[in-house]
This record gives sequence, structure tokens and C-alpha cells, in this order.
Amino acid sequence: MAENQPKRVVVAIDGPAGAGKSTIAKALAERLGFTYIDTGAMYRAVALWAVRQSVDFADPHRMEQLALAAAIELAPGRIQLNGEDVTAAIRTPEVSSGASKIAVIPGVRRAMVAKQREIGQKVSVVMEGRDIGTVVFPDADLKVFLDASVEERVRRRLLESRAKGVETSESVLAAQMKERDQRDSTRADAPLAQAPDAVYLDSTHLSEDEVAEAILKMLRARVTNGKEYQSHE
Ligand code: DC
Repeated sequence: MAENQPKRVVVAIDGPAGAGKSTIAKALAERLGFTYIDTGAMYRAVALWAVRQSVDFADPHRMEQLALAAAIELAPGRIQLNGEDVTAAIRTPEVSSGASKIAVIPGVRRAMVAKQREIGQKVSVVMEGRDIGTVVFPDADLKVFLDASVEERVRRRLLESRAKGVETSESVLAAQMKERDQRDSTRADAPLAQAPDAVYLDSTHLSEDEVAEAILKMLRARVTNGKEYQSHE
């Protein structure tokens, strides 16, 4: 990249389910003019395809084939799988749990990471997931580990479900979240972990705006230093 070209920036946001990653990453990307990448949605799309094809989540060979063959297109807040909009279809409890199960398979992760790097090498991104700061972009310009208490994370998911008209009980949601957190943070390949150089941010008592402002402040101070960065516009 020529020296006078604006810099391409990668903001990595990792953390457990319900910590507010999607909301914050989307808001930040909008404000910065960067591309928002929800990597969890990519794992979910592959899990959805497996459900539809009756492929066993535990079959590493077949699952890797699906992950490699999946044509995944992301637009802000929307996702397409093989040309079909699956934004709503990937948000069921079966797909949530399936995504976490297939995410333990190294071949699936390799396929997803390759797609994620391809995007982040072209444009400035706010990318959220579990392994962005540790594996996908270890050289990200800013890494945030976004967390919240388990009670607050369950409360947020409950509100989200209700807003969609889905009635679930708090105890069922808490159990599902606990199981997923446990699997995501103990798998052998790229477990959910805070990168040593990531900033830990607890959003339990913060509003969406407060979290977004805190991250923007860090980005200005550390990355842009008053200079221009490359937005996708
Ligand atoms: O962010 P999410 O809850 O939509 O992600 C769904 C699952 O996908 C999550 O339980 C673990 C997996 N995942 C992952 O292993 N690595 C990522 N970078 C993103 C998600």
C-alpha cells in the first residue's frame, strides 16, 4: 500500500454470547464507515445447511466439505447462504447450539477463517466473534474483549427473544448459554479467549452508547491518531 493511501483498519471484538458484540460492532462499523462482519453468523449458516442436509454436526469430514462449499454473503445485519437470505433462519436454538458444535472442528474453522481474512484484507472492518483477536487477525489495530455478567447476558437474550415474539424461559436460556460458553471456551482449536493485547471491557452496567464511545475513543487514540483511515465508502 502506498504511503499516502489511507490505512486499512481492523477492529476485533471477541467475547461470549450475549455480551453485546453484534450491537456494538454494527454501530461502530456504521459510524466509522467500515464493513461489519458477524463471524458467528457464518458458523450459524454452515450449521443451518447441515440441518437441512441432515449432516451430523459431529462428522468432521462432511462438515468441512459444507464449510468449504458454503457461499456466504454478508451485508450489514443480513446474511445469505447459497443465494438465500437466512438472516432469521440462523437464529433458532437448534442452529445456535449446532454452530457451537461444528465450531470445534478444525477443518470448519480453517474454512471460516480463510473467508474472514479474505474480507479483512480488502477493506476496513469491525469483525466480531470468538477468535478474531487471537487467530483471525492477531495483528488487528484494536482488540476488544467484550464481556458482561452471565445474568445480564441472559437478560439481554431474553429481551431479544421476546422482541421477536419468541417466548422462552430464563432458565432454559441460561442453560443453553452456559453449555455454549463452556464448549466455546474449552475446545482445543481457537477457544474463546482474551488476546494478551486486547482491552477488557465489561458492559454489564454500560449502555450501548457508552460502550461504543469507549471503543471509538481507544481507536482514535491508538490507531488513527487524527489521521484518515480507509472506509469502504
Ligand atoms: O456469535 P454467535 O453466538 O452468533 O456464534 C455462534 C457460535 O459460533 C458460537 O457459539 C461459537 C461459534 N463461533 C466461533 O467458534 N468463532 C467465531 N469467531 C464466531 C462464532
